Amino acid sequence: MLLNDAHRAALLDVLTWRRDVRHFKTDPVDQEVLDRLRATMDLAPSVGNARPWRVLQVKDADKRAAITADFETENAKAAALYSDDARRDYNALKLSGMHDAPVHLAIFTETAPREGRGLGRQTMPETLAYSTVGAIYTLWLAARAENIGLGWVSIINPERIKQILQTPDTWHLTGYLCLGHAEFQDDTPLLHKTGWQENVQTHWKTV
Ligand SMILES: Cc1cc2nc3c(=O)[nH]c(=O)nc-3n(C[C@H](O)[C@H](O)[C@H](O)COP(=O)(O)O)c2cc1C
Repeated sequence: MLLNDAHRAALLDVLTWRRDVRHFKTDPVDQEVLDRLRATMDLAPSVGNARPWRVLQVKDADKRAAITADFETENAKAAALYSDDARRDYNALKLSGMHDAPVHLAIFTETAPREGRGLGRQTMPETLAYSTVGAIYTLWLAARAENIGLGWVSIINPERIKQILQTPDTWHLTGYLCLGHAEFQDDTPLLHKTGWQENVQTHWKTV
């Protein structure tokens, strides 16, 4: 299949308007949309084609509450690392949409997958986690194309999340994702917009 200008323009729109979303409406996401999103993760590249990502959709109210409480605890600890003005600025940031997002996905990496038969990861076992990140980004873009926002939450204690979700020892937490309809659309990262940071460009040098 040869792709044309219209494909390139559409891809650029998806990339430009993808955001890390933390402000969600509580409206549910249609199951057919979720099914399509799940299928797009199969399209992601992975080391040795191992597809080591393991996805748990967290629906149980008690588990969601425990995970949200863990975020609050870890976020307060992170805030305490800053002093004075920086802490005030940090506390003004909204760093998770867990309370409102209708869909919560805990994404793990199976660190000892049979799939792939070890190919490609002997010298760099971390490529399994990299593969999972690729699958998350695939999901992220596919969600944007469905007009569904996605927010990545990393301010959590991985061991606590594993305990709450009772996962196998070989599963390593890669990311916790919130999905749902976004409150607003933007083409600029929120951390830049709120003045937390300057926007930085890709460091790329020819040597
Ligand atoms: C690995 C990873 C972890 C992240 N963890 C968080 C998080 O815990 N809370 C949050 O608000 N944003 C988190 N983000 C989102 C980033 O802050 C966001 O991608 C960045 O500010 C650029 O904004 P944009 O995604 O809208 O372009 C995470 C992003 C990545 C890739």
